Amino acid sequence: MARAPKSLSEARATYTTNAELAWWVFMRISGLMLIFLVFAHLWFNNIAIDAATIDYDYVAQRLAQPGVKIFDTFLLAFAMLHGVNGLRYSVEDYVRKPGRRFWTKVVLYAVAGVVFVLGTMTLWAFSYEEMGAAVRALN
Ligand code: HEM
Repeated sequence: MARAPKSLSEARATYTTNAELAWWVFMRISGLMLIFLVFAHLWFNNIAIDAATIDYDYVAQRLAQPGVKIFDTFLLAFAMLHGVNGLRYSVEDYVRKPGRRFWTKVVLYAVAGVVFVLGTMTLWAFSYEEMGAAVRALN
């Protein structure tokens, strides 16, 4: 890609498939959403409290709230899709040999898939109420 399109009409003229046009739109929307999601996340975990005091109990208390899980799922999904698609653009631009480009993307998607599945399981597969209580009982 010589130069990234700056407007929707430029994007329509640049991309030959609807999928690439949809990714272009998605990158603009998710980029905007991530500004709010990441700053809210940093506020709650870094500024409103001292990050050095974060322990299992704090995380368990936060993840016992359904709203935090939903928020974190959006943060995870947008950060992964936005980041992986951005990396895909770089791979398309810089990895010139077709075979090497193909395998670079296979590794990128595989790692992203594993991170996304593990992250989503971490958020939804455990009872943080019970695990928080069990950790407090140990202390
Ligand atoms: C030093 C800075 C950061 C600290 C101290 C921090 C801390 C935490 C903590 C305590 C949690 C547990 C759940 C919660 O309370 O929401 C968490 C989860 C999470 N954080 Fe951060 N965070 C930091 C930066 C970031 C950044 C920059 C991003 C994304 C660009 C991010 C993405 C996430 C995601 C996606 C989860 C959910 C993980 C999962 O699916 O299990 N964090 N973080």
